[in-house]
Amino acid sequence: MKFAVIGYGGHSKVICELILSQKGNEIIGYFDDKFEEIRLIENTYFGPVLSAKRMADYFHEIKFVIAIGNNKARKAIANKLDILEKYYATVIHKSAIISPTAKIGNGSVVMPNSVINADTEIGLHAIINTGSIIEHDSIVGDFVHVSPGVTLTGAVHLDEGVSIGAGSTIIPNRKVGKWSVIGAGATVINDIPAFCTAVGVPARISKVNEEEGELIDKHSI
Ligand SMILES: CC(C)(COP(=O)(O)OP(=O)(O)OC[C@H]1O[C@@H](n2cnc3c(N)ncnc32)[C@H](O)[C@@H]1OP(=O)(O)O)[C@@H](O)C(=O)NCCC(=O)NCCS
Repeated sequence: MKFAVIGYGGHSKVICELILSQKGNEIIGYFDDKFEEIRLIENTYFGPVLSAKRMADYFHEIKFVIAIGNNKARKAIANKLDILEKYYATVIHKSAIISPTAKIGNGSVVMPNSVINADTEIGLHAIINTGSIIEHDSIVGDFVHVSPGVTLTGAVHLDEGVSIGAGSTIIPNRKVGKWSVIGAGATVINDIPAFCTAVGVPARISKVNEEEGELIDKHSI
């Protein structure tokens, strides 16, 4: 499978290694606005984000992946590129354990040693980072980032754009509202509303980011 990778930073490095660890995969280009114009260097394209769209004209069966860790930036780029979801790859490391009843959306990545259990639903362009556990019946929205070592116990619901800090735990049947941020090492025992930051054990709201949230909705960045 041929891949075009959008983003050329730290998170992208990890995703590229993951793509290339699977036999038959090849990366034909890297696209990031740090490149001013499209160039072909040793059979690999480097170009600004929007030039990635042209790759679909040159290569049949190409798949795209947005390899950017920041949720808002990932959503902004997905909107800017406006590529049909079916052209985005779902990238899953071979060491991840995925229930046959789990559903994982296009553009999402599942990092090494993660476990995704029965009847979970992972949306589009989500990141399930290294060694995280998504327990049964959980719902993970579009553009969510579940950081390394997180445990979502049963039937946890994360709305769009939520970011869960490394090593956090969320007890069963709790919901985190859209674009909220949970600090590293938190234990979430109550529902967390949208557009908040919550930290600590048990997690308490430390900041309300409503204005930022409204902007995200209005401009759909
Ligand atoms: C929660 C977080 C987003 C807060 O960032 P912020 O809004 O810039 O907040 P600040 O650093 O200004 O800290 C604000 C307060 O929260 C506290 N705080 C910050 N992060 C905390 C955490 N994870 N746990 C407990 N308290 C925390 C700070 O000590 C500070 O307390 P004070 O007001 O009493 O001094 C950030 O600290 C964090 O934990 N990010 C997760 C990073 C991560 O896991 N990344 C994984 C990438 S793969």
